[in-house]
Order: sequence, then C-alpha cells, then structure tokens
Amino acid sequence: MTADDRRAAVLCGIGAWVPPRVVTNDDLVQRLNTTDEWIRARTGIRERRVIEPGMSTCTLAVEAGTRALKSSGDAVVDLVIVATTTPDHPCPSTAPEVAHRLGLTGVPAFDLNAVCAGFVYALATAAGHIAAGSAERVLVIGADAFTTMLNPNDRTTAAIFGDGAGAVVLRAGTADEPGALGPFDLGSDGSNADLLIVPAGGSEQRGSGLPVDPADLHFRMDGQPVFRNAVMRMSESAGKVLERAGWRIEDVDRFACHQANARILSAVARNLAVEQDRVVMNVDRVGNTVAASIPLVLADAAATGDIAPGHRILITSFGAGLSWGSTVLTWPEVEIG
Ligand code: UT7
Repeated sequence: MTADDRRAAVLCGIGAWVPPRVVTNDDLVQRLNTTDEWIRARTGIRERRVIEPGMSTCTLAVEAGTRALKSSGDAVVDLVIVATTTPDHPCPSTAPEVAHRLGLTGVPAFDLNAVCAGFVYALATAAGHIAAGSAERVLVIGADAFTTMLNPNDRTTAAIFGDGAGAVVLRAGTADEPGALGPFDLGSDGSNADLLIVPAGGSEQRGSGLPVDPADLHFRMDGQPVFRNAVMRMSESAGKVLERAGWRIEDVDRFACHQANARILSAVARNLAVEQDRVVMNVDRVGNTVAASIPLVLADAAATGDIAPGHRILITSFGAGLSWGSTVLTWPEVEIG
C-alpha cells in the first residue's frame, strides 16, 4: 500500500450558523468602560452574535449540523462529535441530544472539550475513527455559547467572545483525494491552565465543600500571556504540520487561524511568512467563537469564494488548557450548507 492509498477522512460537507442577535461594540460601550476604538484597535472585532433566551449550545449545534448534513448530500452518519466548552448541562453531554434532534438517535455521540482547539481535536478524533475503520461517516460540530460563561461586566472578556457553531461531515476516502484531512499536530500545556479558567462549578470546587464565590463561576483570562502563548504555539504547531505534510509555506493558499484577535492572526502569519491576503478572517463580525471558530471561518470564506476548490488550506488553533492543534487539507468541491 502506498501512502496515497491510505484510508483517510475526507471533508464532504460543511455548514455554519450564528444566532441572529448582533451585539456591536457600541452596544457594549453602554455597559462596559470601553470604546469602539479600543475594541477595534486591540482585537479587530466590530460586532459579535449572541444567543437569545431559549437558545443554547444544542440549538447552535443542531442548526450547523443540519446545514453540514445537507451540504454532504446524505443525512446519515455513524458518529457525532460535538466540540464544546459550554454543554447545555454539566451532565449529560450535549452530543446525544444534538444527534437525536438531527434524526440520528442511536448513533454514538459524545462531547469533546479542548476549548478553542476543540474543533481540530475533534477532527483528529474523527479521522482516527475513520482510519481505524470504526466509522465511515462522521459529523463533527464545533459549537459554543461562550457568552453564557462570561461576566457581562468584565471588559477584558465581554468584548471578545461571541456565540456560534460550525460543522463538517467527514467520509472515508483516501489520502490523495481533495478534502483529505491530515496530518495533524496536537499539544497541550497544563502548567498554564490558570491563564484562561472558570475557577468554580467543577468537581474541584464542589469537592472542597467551601461556599462558591459567584465571581468564580465566570471565565477569566490573563490576556497578555495568553496572547504570547497563542502566537508561539500556533506558529510552532502550524510549522510542524507543514513539515509532516511535506508542504512549504508557499504551498499554502489560505491560512485559517483561530479567530481570537486580528493582531494574533497577523503575528502568526508574520512568523510563518504568510501574506495577509492569504489569511481568512471573520473575527471582525463574530469575535472569538471558541470551538466554532475554525469551521465558521472556513464556511464563511468558502461561501464568499475566498476559499475555492483546489486551495491548500493550513488550519491552526489555540485556547485554554492550554491546548493547540493544526492540520491541512486541499479544499474539495463542496456546497456550503
Ligand atoms: O481563544 C483563546 C485565546 N484567547 C486569546 O488569544 C486572547 C489573547 N489576548 C488578547 O487578545 C489581548 O490580550 C486582549 C484583547 C484580551 C487585551 O488586549 P491587550 O492589548 O493585551 O490589553 P491589556 O490586557 O494589556 O490591557 C491594556 C489596558 C488595561 O488598562 P491599564 O491597566 O493599562 O489601565 C486594560 O484594563 O487596556 C484595558 N482594557 C480595556 N480598555 C478598554 C482591557 N480590556 C479593555 C476594553 N476596553 N475592552
């Protein structure tokens, strides 16, 4: 068997969804001690989407999943993975309900939490199932209602995050086909877990028996070291995956980097020597959507034609954990759901 005959996971469907409610920077100025100029200059974000009462991560995931299945031309899969940090409940996981609402009751379904790197981790997991022969078609969803974890009065986080979901369908194919995913590079650094954290609400705090400080139920982030780690880890990881794939940086037609902050995207692109016009970007319109970030920006760019069939795509992501992950694919002929 040659390398190109290897069984591989091939992208054959993609869809995305953001809730209709737009929150502009000016909307935040009324609540936070901030300005539109500060948010635009420091993050590149103009507006974000936020769920309304009655919506949850499951709502976002079902909308994106429906579109991805439609795009793939077949509503049947044999595994559903939902990458999320904001499950509808601490228990059970959200994926079984998502699968049920998609008409996939009975199909194995589980959540995967690697925060902003979750979608790339989920792609790698799905690709592993396909390579091992334990799945033929996998629905991979990245969905987060991350605004529900924020302290609405904390200007260091409330200006940055938004809600949304994106999804892809992967089918079994071969490594030489357009849409074939991989290789992957994944990594983590738990020594820096405190840099992005929700301190309470988990077993550590519950097991302590101590009263909960309500402030500890919200996400907090130490922005500057996170910024530095994000640039370093995504630059390194993207470099490693290129080497494993045997691609040179000149081979990359489009660079899809986790949409955390326009300045982070520029810094990573500069480190890799990727020109700005090869970097796909929607952080200005959706902010940081955590696990949804990568599939949302891929779907957006493919919908406008900025990503086109035959383009060689480099993907890299980074988030709390710390966790990071990268992969590559050549964009296939696929309709956006
Ligand atoms: O997806 C997970 C990965 N997350 C990230 O990659 C986020 C990485 N970090 C960042 O994107 C940036 O660090 C931030 C956008 C969060 C902050 O930008 P910064 O340029 O690093 O600002 P800073 O934290 O150094 O703060 C500078 C000043 C501070 O005021 P003082 O102490 O100098 O008086 C902050 O209090 O800016 C202040 N500040 C704000 N001012 C107006 C922080 N947030 C805001 C705000 N509006 N929203």
